[in-house]
Amino acid sequence: PAPGWSIDADVVVVGSGVAGLTTALRCAAAGLATVVVTKARLDDGSTRWAQGGIAAALGDGDTPEQHLDDTLVAGAGLCDEAAVRTLVTEGPDAVRRLIETGAHFDTTDSGDIALTREGGHHRRRIAHAGGDATGAEISRALVEAVREAALHTVENALVLDLLTDAEGRTAGVTLHVMGEGQHDGVGAVRAPAVVLATGGMGQVFSATTNPAVSTGDGVALALRAGAEVSDLEFVQFHPTVLFLGAGSEGQQPLVSEAVRGEGAHLVDASGTRFMTGQHELAELAPRDIVAKAITRQMQLRGTEHMYLDARHFGAAMWEQRFPTILAACRAHGIDPITEPIPVAPAAHYASGGIRTDLRGRTTVPGLYACGEVACTGVHGANRLASNSLLEGLVFAERIAADIVGDRPSAGAATAGTLPAPSPLLAPEARATIQRIMTRGAGVLRSAESLAAAAEELEALHNSAAAAAGAAEPKVAVPGVEAWEATNLLLVSRVLVAAARRREETRGCHWREDRPERDDENWRRHLVVRLTPERR
Ligand code: SIN
Repeated sequence: PAPGWSIDADVVVVGSGVAGLTTALRCAAAGLATVVVTKARLDDGSTRWAQGGIAAALGDGDTPEQHLDDTLVAGAGLCDEAAVRTLVTEGPDAVRRLIETGAHFDTTDSGDIALTREGGHHRRRIAHAGGDATGAEISRALVEAVREAALHTVENALVLDLLTDAEGRTAGVTLHVMGEGQHDGVGAVRAPAVVLATGGMGQVFSATTNPAVSTGDGVALALRAGAEVSDLEFVQFHPTVLFLGAGSEGQQPLVSEAVRGEGAHLVDASGTRFMTGQHELAELAPRDIVAKAITRQMQLRGTEHMYLDARHFGAAMWEQRFPTILAACRAHGIDPITEPIPVAPAAHYASGGIRTDLRGRTTVPGLYACGEVACTGVHGANRLASNSLLEGLVFAERIAADIVGDRPSAGAATAGTLPAPSPLLAPEARATIQRIMTRGAGVLRSAESLAAAAEELEALHNSAAAAAGAAEPKVAVPGVEAWEATNLLLVSRVLVAAARRREETRGCHWREDRPERDDENWRRHLVVRLTPERR
């Protein structure tokens, strides 16, 4: 739809997690006219829900090189080593600057940053806050800094599409805004630099740790704008999500890896550990290995969950170290101090996304991507635990430096064209897409399950396209839910196509019909750029 109002800026940042707000603060501090737009409230994205922490080589004896090694192993042969090196060497200072911005991390008795372990890390290297409320503290500190800096923010603003100029350069974004006074309805922020920091796409599955806002909006926008997207088949399933009953849908409570980092055991119904003997790190093996082991146990025993046993922590440790998880368990009638926690894997993180270089530039000039929405190459086929907040932080600073170096002039982009729209879906399609994706492209995939999912998704797309192209068009009513469903369908179609093509098992992509890793044919990335008729 054509924009009814507009704001001019040097840079518009879309999203308000660690990636978006860090980019915005740095751009504004350098004097750029910066606007932050976000789909719900400033603190409503995934960052706030992060529990375990932020990984960086901050401890005695730890080095960026060791952090690099662990990241490369978890990434199963597909990390971009230069990107990982950037992440791990710039990480420790980026965390220190986050502390200067106002984030308070937990400390030891001697005043050093307290560090825990998580899956795939051979050392204690995860900084945490409020015990298990790291993301909430980071979000609080950044939102406060944004308010203090009086940044121009627009909340309740769903990003729709990229505006480009006659040369194909970024010229801004269109938005659908609700309840924000003068900026209500469809409008635009016109700016020569756009930073997408919209987070993940966990809502393509029925059960996920992601909040309801994680609907792949940034990746969908990038696909419609003709940007390259990579590695979408690598969806990470977190091994230990509180099991709330068969068929539970929507956001599910996470039970942080840090609980295993502090010594909790994965056990079956009889209390027997099953990770020992499977991997040298046992319960602290990389996340894909633990998620697969739990799923295998569930299949073997015909059950829908396994258990995480941390009764031996005792009440004091549970209350001090894991207050968020303790409260979430108790809210669902489970007391982890006296009983094992029922857990099962659920969709958690998109390791792929919009392809960028080390400055966060996408393949569309002026368009940047940062955080979960991006594919910088640091995660490869499986993200190492607690590298995500770090990636957002490190690459946000790099993006801001690049934009500041370019010095785009305010108001340079006065006009702009929009890409051809995707056919709009009705909001009810969301649940259908989630069911299709969970059945066909979940933790376990096969050629057969993926083919069935692809067929059903294409049928949804075709019927929306036919309705829009009919003599008397019957289109869904435009609105946030309809656009979200439309975005979910577009990213699901591309994800399934990539998962079908990758005929091997690697990292978090688990093909039952191709159980081996195939380095000869598949040690490469699947990069997608959609032609207009596929959007
Ligand atoms: C967790 O706390 O287990 C999540 C950490 C992450 O996703 O990196």
